[in-house]
Amino acid sequence: MASELSKIVLKKDDLTEVHVYLHGGTVTSWKCKGKEILFVSKQAVFDGKKAIRGGIPVVFPNFGPWKLGPQHGFARTATWKVHKQPEKDKDGNIVAVLLLEDTEETRKIWNHNFKFWYTLTLKNCEFSMEVNIQNTGAEDFEFTSLLHTYYNVDIEKAKLQGLQGCDFLDKVNGGEHKEENEFLQISANVDSVYKQTPNELKLLTGNHNIRITKENFPDTVVWNPWFEKAKQMSDFGDNEYQDMICVEPGFVAAPCKLQPNETFTAKQILTCLC
Ligand code: BG6
Repeated sequence: MASELSKIVLKKDDLTEVHVYLHGGTVTSWKCKGKEILFVSKQAVFDGKKAIRGGIPVVFPNFGPWKLGPQHGFARTATWKVHKQPEKDKDGNIVAVLLLEDTEETRKIWNHNFKFWYTLTLKNCEFSMEVNIQNTGAEDFEFTSLLHTYYNVDIEKAKLQGLQGCDFLDKVNGGEHKEENEFLQISANVDSVYKQTPNELKLLTGNHNIRITKENFPDTVVWNPWFEKAKQMSDFGDNEYQDMICVEPGFVAAPCKLQPNETFTAKQILTCLC
């Protein structure tokens, strides 16, 4: 039950707030001027075990199928700590910090020491997520990571601008291609890893527009399961593919290597242009 899982709320005013579950460090709602920007499936499971289907699950330390552990890593099903409760900063923005550290359980799967700080900042029409991953062990490690962001859209009208000219790996039909379209529109199962993408994309949802800005995340994954795949997912409604698109900034096409004591920093900044 949703009510049994711990959650924190960043509240700017009655119409502007962010909800984050400690389960998976998953942001499940960002309301800007009363408008919900993120998609969460009506069939999402809040049992503290399964990853929440929607919002912004944190993928770490592995994107995709993983021979050592669960698909997309353990961060999206781990219980994060509240490092800093939501608080107003000097500019009036609301800031909260979550923390995930290695445990006996994570070391059984992936034997490395790390600290992962996740800083969430809510402004009037802007919500940003900063990732700081530190190697606290004595040996190098490699990881892949992304912010698996699900947006609320009308898929018949949604357009993603900014990927034209980028090379992408087509995980549905295979092969590497170059994106030809200025505006990407989805009308089938799409699962593509775009490499070295621009730091600014624009998502036209059919209702409002979102500027998606990233820093130090080289790649962007675009995903929509469409009908047949949706039917195979127990925590996703058969027709919900019509209401969502995932645009996921990350470090995934090649792994990121961290030396002892080194910290990887990256950001996603979302601006509602409504
Ligand atoms: C995307 C992957 O990021 O996540 C897809 O590129 C995957 O291959 C999708 O199907 C959803 O993954 P999951 O594990 O949440 O069902």
